[in-house]
Amino acid sequence: MDFKLEVAKLLATAADISVEDALSAVETPGNKAMGDFAYPCFRLAKVFRKAPPMIAQEIYEKLNKPAFIENIQVVGAYVNFFIEKGVYAQEVLSKVLAEKENFGTSNMGNGKTVVIDYSSPNIAKPFHVGHLRSTVIGNAIYKIYEKLGYHCEGVNHLGDWGTQFGKLIVAYRNWGSKEGVESNGIQELMRIYVKFHDEVENNPALDDEARLWFVKMQEGDEEALTLWKWFYDISIKEFDRVYDMLGVKFDAYTGESFYNDKMAPVVEELKEKKLLKESEGAMIVDLEDKNMPPCLIIRKDGGTLYATRDITAALYRKKTYNFEKCIYLTALDQNLHFAQWFEVIHKMGYDWYKDLIHVPFGLVSLDSGKLSTRHGNVVLMEDLLSQAIGETRRIIEEKNPSLENKEEVSKQVGIGAVIFNDLYNGRIKDVVFSWERMLNFDGETGPYVQYTHARACSILKRAGEVSLENINYGKLSDEASLDICKLLEAYPDKIKDAASKLEPSIVTRHLVAISQAFNKFYHDNPILNSEDEVRQARLAVVVAVKTVMKEGLRLLGIDAPEQM
Ligand code: ARG
Repeated sequence: MDFKLEVAKLLATAADISVEDALSAVETPGNKAMGDFAYPCFRLAKVFRKAPPMIAQEIYEKLNKPAFIENIQVVGAYVNFFIEKGVYAQEVLSKVLAEKENFGTSNMGNGKTVVIDYSSPNIAKPFHVGHLRSTVIGNAIYKIYEKLGYHCEGVNHLGDWGTQFGKLIVAYRNWGSKEGVESNGIQELMRIYVKFHDEVENNPALDDEARLWFVKMQEGDEEALTLWKWFYDISIKEFDRVYDMLGVKFDAYTGESFYNDKMAPVVEELKEKKLLKESEGAMIVDLEDKNMPPCLIIRKDGGTLYATRDITAALYRKKTYNFEKCIYLTALDQNLHFAQWFEVIHKMGYDWYKDLIHVPFGLVSLDSGKLSTRHGNVVLMEDLLSQAIGETRRIIEEKNPSLENKEEVSKQVGIGAVIFNDLYNGRIKDVVFSWERMLNFDGETGPYVQYTHARACSILKRAGEVSLENINYGKLSDEASLDICKLLEAYPDKIKDAASKLEPSIVTRHLVAISQAFNKFYHDNPILNSEDEVRQARLAVVVAVKTVMKEGLRLLGIDAPEQM
């Protein structure tokens, strides 16, 4: 039932105007005392040639109050409508209970594909906390779009190509060993890479050597590629451990190397379209007309660049997926890079350049000291997640020592806290890691929302068999129940809003609001000890909240344990 429309129909009959006219004037007041819907009569003053308050009074007298309206009041020039709470509760809850986890699902995206380029760490470099945001936000956007019926392609655009691999090969041949890399993985690769940078200061010839090795890689030299592939496999193994912990998956691991043999035709196309210009021996696309520095396509030494591969990848993705949108998640320090090469695609004459969307986010900082690091200043994701799990285990040990499967729950809650913390604020804001705040079971945190869900599960467990037939929704006329219904009703729109703004925090915050309303409901209303009809109706609220919370957490990439 569309209450607003029904109210408009009543008004149309009473005032003798069209339903459309009435509908366009009906307001939803922010102040609950003014009703659920309000109709201002100012607009009618000209037609009726009367003062608006008089018109309001006359309309009021002609209105027939139907069953779904609890009360109608005239306040000044307004006619205010109060919806019958039981009818409203029935409207919302019966829909949630019938649709279950599909509540909020939409078919708006059917037949459309969205490519999401997220995480995309760099091979042979540690997966550090900076990559966390891309991974977590990208994963949530993926799930949110999928919920709206879109077909999603999650792409990990690994940084696995470029001159840095020439350097790494030189470093390995000079200072590396098979055993060292095999036992210490990325850490050892980092060590020799740093060593290269130290040595090159006194020995610039190393740079030329490195360049040569990268040229060899581009030409398919076996020795070069074997070493590169080895570094690649070692890195992926470490990354996959992190993805496993986070519960994140990709549809394709098409990184930068994937485009090695696909760039030449694109460079040719740029040339044909007269977009390439020589500048100090390099090839560029001039962007002066857009007030941007030129986009570098080919280096002086013939090497291709990050942007060359992004342009090639976009053309490949358009051809392969025919996407409606291609979304890129990186920190905001890459704003210029994306603005530049999006513009190159534009200049190439592709009108879908406007479907390329860079979604930037703020940086991560740590409240210093509390986070242990294995070495240097890079905080490794794996260490951070392990620490989150450890801290959570300590809290659970304190709060609920007899909990079964403590290990599994610590993992769900610890990782959930990290993800939630990242998705709680608007993405452009910087994220601060503070264990104390993140793991506070009473704050606006992952554990708080998970705990609320677990509380709902525990009520249902204690209730035993819960019948959802013939519920007397009229028993849900209290303020807290009404608040929950309003939040549940708004949930599908929140998902759509999060998708269109590419802002998972809209869902995160809505889950916090539902949790708060539910905890108030639980506090104000006895459930299990109430008389039968009340008990049943309240349990229906619990089931609906539990269902939506679990599904909402899933959209964010967070598990919902039944006990904690
Ligand atoms: N590898 C890059 C980095 O770590 C991120 C890649 C983002 N995706 C892209 N298509 N450029 O900074």
